[in-house]
Amino acid sequence: MTKDEFETLLIRGAFETDPTTGALTPPIYQTATYKQFELGVEQRFDYSRSANPTRALLEDRIALLEEGRYGYAFSSGMAAITAVLCLFRSGDEILVPRDLYGGTLRLLDAHFKNFGMNWRAVDTTDPDSLGRAFSSSTRAIILESPTNPTLRVSDIAAVCEIARSRKVLSIVDNTFLTPYFQRPITMGADIVIHSATKYLAGHNDVLAGLVVLNDETLAEQFLMIQKSTGGVLPPFDSYLLLRGMKTLAVRLDRESESALAIAKWLLSRQEATHVYYPGLETDPGYAINSRQAGSAGGLLSFDLDEKHDIKKFTSSLELFTLAESLGSVESMACHPATMSHASISAEMREEMGISYRLIRLAVGLEGLPHLIRDLEKAFDASKL
Ligand SMILES: Cc1ncc(COP(=O)(O)O)c(C=O)c1O
Repeated sequence: MTKDEFETLLIRGAFETDPTTGALTPPIYQTATYKQFELGVEQRFDYSRSANPTRALLEDRIALLEEGRYGYAFSSGMAAITAVLCLFRSGDEILVPRDLYGGTLRLLDAHFKNFGMNWRAVDTTDPDSLGRAFSSSTRAIILESPTNPTLRVSDIAAVCEIARSRKVLSIVDNTFLTPYFQRPITMGADIVIHSATKYLAGHNDVLAGLVVLNDETLAEQFLMIQKSTGGVLPPFDSYLLLRGMKTLAVRLDRESESALAIAKWLLSRQEATHVYYPGLETDPGYAINSRQAGSAGGLLSFDLDEKHDIKKFTSSLELFTLAESLGSVESMACHPATMSHASISAEMREEMGISYRLIRLAVGLEGLPHLIRDLEKAFDASKL
């Protein structure tokens, strides 16, 4: 799909105008149930946990955008991931990247393990060693590329090919780059997941999760899981997400441009001892990311040198708000060791390359000179 086609789908995909009123904006069907017109005759909409027209439009649109066939919307990214993990059973093993999103790891480790499912961390950035990591009970591999917060890149097509040859499902969490920059289904992924709370919604006003699939048999099984577990996205939130998604392309173009400029600026600053951003030619993920994605996105990280106080640095930021989350029009800063990855043991954090000195920046839409000035002021204010 071309960039132009994608941009048109963001606005028009799966909806022209409301057939009853001509409304340009999709109606919010705030209803729990529907009249059954004839006894025993199936209807597409009979109860909103199973299907709701506002949610259905969102589900159809995300499927088009990801170039998949079936979309599903959930009340959060974690609800979406929970539903995906319900595809597996006791004794199944899931392979995950070393720096998998902490919430997904907690879900696997603290909850699905109780049902007899196992997980194992592997290096998804190295397809050669990955081939040897599968066991006879491996049923799926989860990928994130780039990862959070060290922005490590995996070769999605290569990993999906290995998974396919082992008859194992490949699941890609595409939260950070979104289908605007990266479409894993076109690279062979079986399942794409989103925390749509982030870039897709884009305005910090809704929690949402999305799943896209391509295979009809898997889709039937998954529809039953969505209906049975019931963590679906409400109609108003579906509308908010559809509204936010309309500007995805323009937001992401600008945010990734600013992120690259900030990454380059940080490279020139001695306060940043390491900059993590696969849009930099010096980054180990640059070549693969440039091949498989349209950009490196709006997220970057850096290590603050020992001559600056981390607490003072984060509290001196004014535009980069210290907050969990990312992907919104507001720029945000995160200290992974005490925030997003606090629930992970210090040893595991170390293994994942998340030191106490790591700062993650999610670049929003404020003026670029203001954002750089904000960082510069915080560097000055936090000198020891
Ligand atoms: C990569 C990734 N996946 C999933 C999630 C969970 O999404 P949510 O917070 O919408 O439940 C997050 C949240 O930060 C995330 O960063």
